[in-house]
Amino acid sequence: MKISIFGLGYVGCVGSACFAELGHDVIGVDVSTTKVDLINSGRPTIIERDIDELCRRGHESGRLRATTDARSAVLATDVSFIAVGTPGTGHGHLDLSYIYGVARQIGEALRDKDSFHVVAIRSTVMPGTNEKVASIIEEASGKKRGEGFAVVSNPEFLREGTSVKDFLNPPLTLVGTDCQRAAEVMHELYGSLPAEYISTDIRVAEIMKYVNNTYHALKIVFGNEVGAICKTLGIDSHKVMDIFCRDRHLNISPYYFKPGFAYGGSCLPKDTRALRALAADNYVDVPVISHIESSNDAHRHRAVELILAQGRRKIGVLGLSFKAGTDDLRCSPIVDVVETLLGKGCAISIYDKNVQVSRLTGTNHEFIMSKIPHLQHFVTDDLDAVMAASDVIVVTNAEKEFKDLPARYPGKIFVDLVRLWDELDYEGRYEGLAWANINQNDAQNAEMEKDFAKSAF
Ligand SMILES: NC(=O)c1ccc[n+]([C@@H]2O[C@H](COP(=O)([O-])OP(=O)(O)OC[C@H]3O[C@@H](n4cnc5c(N)ncnc54)[C@H](O)[C@@H]3O)[C@@H](O)[C@H]2O)c1
Repeated sequence: MKISIFGLGYVGCVGSACFAELGHDVIGVDVSTTKVDLINSGRPTIIERDIDELCRRGHESGRLRATTDARSAVLATDVSFIAVGTPGTGHGHLDLSYIYGVARQIGEALRDKDSFHVVAIRSTVMPGTNEKVASIIEEASGKKRGEGFAVVSNPEFLREGTSVKDFLNPPLTLVGTDCQRAAEVMHELYGSLPAEYISTDIRVAEIMKYVNNTYHALKIVFGNEVGAICKTLGIDSHKVMDIFCRDRHLNISPYYFKPGFAYGGSCLPKDTRALRALAADNYVDVPVISHIESSNDAHRHRAVELILAQGRRKIGVLGLSFKAGTDDLRCSPIVDVVETLLGKGCAISIYDKNVQVSRLTGTNHEFIMSKIPHLQHFVTDDLDAVMAASDVIVVTNAEKEFKDLPARYPGKIFVDLVRLWDELDYEGRYEGLAWANINQNDAQNAEMEKDFAKSAF
């Protein structure tokens, strides 16, 4: 396949050399004549393991060359990768002017190109950039997105130092697109790599890199905070974290990674507080561990706001215990939500098949009496009675018996805290706590447009 790659820095140089190694014809494009000359003399623009050899081989085979002429590169290729820099502005925002500049150049060239062209954004960009790039290309080329050209999101996961190896053995290949034709082109390009190929929504692909890198940063900081606590106690933190990582069921696993409701129960709140107290007692500053609870509180407040935002006062709560299949109410986050809603004058009905107020004992009973002493007035084991009495139904446990309720009660508004439903679109009668309805994207795009105006190109 014929490929042009805009930007010959770390990402572009490695991508150019590796695609040439995979047998594609590659034209690198950069505003720097120094970088272009380096590639055209068979040398890399960066220092990286294995890159010298790949650039030399690409040059000798005639499959790798470079130019400063964007137009000729676009006209001679089927796919253009954008791998230019996206520097931070210092406040966390991105300067996307290089991306938009390249988009315009590609668009202007496409005016004179008859065949379909795929533009792949390889740089790390914020959700919504893909749409903006497409609209710049539409304006500059006079062509329509999805017909004359497509813009796909194809984030790069390489690490400097091992970038050639990472390119050729990626953890996965990710392509975000709404265009079948472009998806096929991208699959042809990457199909030979030994990695899972994932085709997904554009915005999912766009935000992925930020989620990955923030999580990597979180892991580093968490490990270091554990290390700092262990050191003051004379404990070998490496032994601790080695054992931590050996638990592949709960620790290093997809478990607990689904956006849903706040955590609760008798263990997580108590034990995170205890580790925080242990650190404080030893004068160890652990900001991440210390703020876990406030993050959980913020999420519970989001649930309250989402419920109140429905503008109705008759609220049905399905599930009161801290998770499905138990009657344990201790530190159940929905108990706090109910307490707040009662304080705001809402009429509450609660259904939980596992909770019988008269049979609660011990700390479980003490906890609920301290929060909602008159609980028995709100709880019933009659699901249909709760449905009949309520306008807004809040689902807090993923019980199968709730699954067909939207179909059975078409007039109700459902606020889903646990992603019980995947369909997402109940004609405006559904809200998820921590996920967007797909049909909300138009509104989100309009919001993004406002932001883009600030970083005008
Ligand atoms: N470096 C990494 O490890 C890494 C990993 C994954 C993703 N990324 C992302 O990839 C993007 C590129 O990163 P990088 O480290 O390769 O940047 P870089 O600064 O090393 O390279 C960017 C290149 O783009 C060129 N350029 C700027 N404007 C241009 C234009 N109009 N036409 C052609 N070329 C132009 C510059 O001259 C430069 O050579 C960034 O968004 C970055 O966040 C980087």
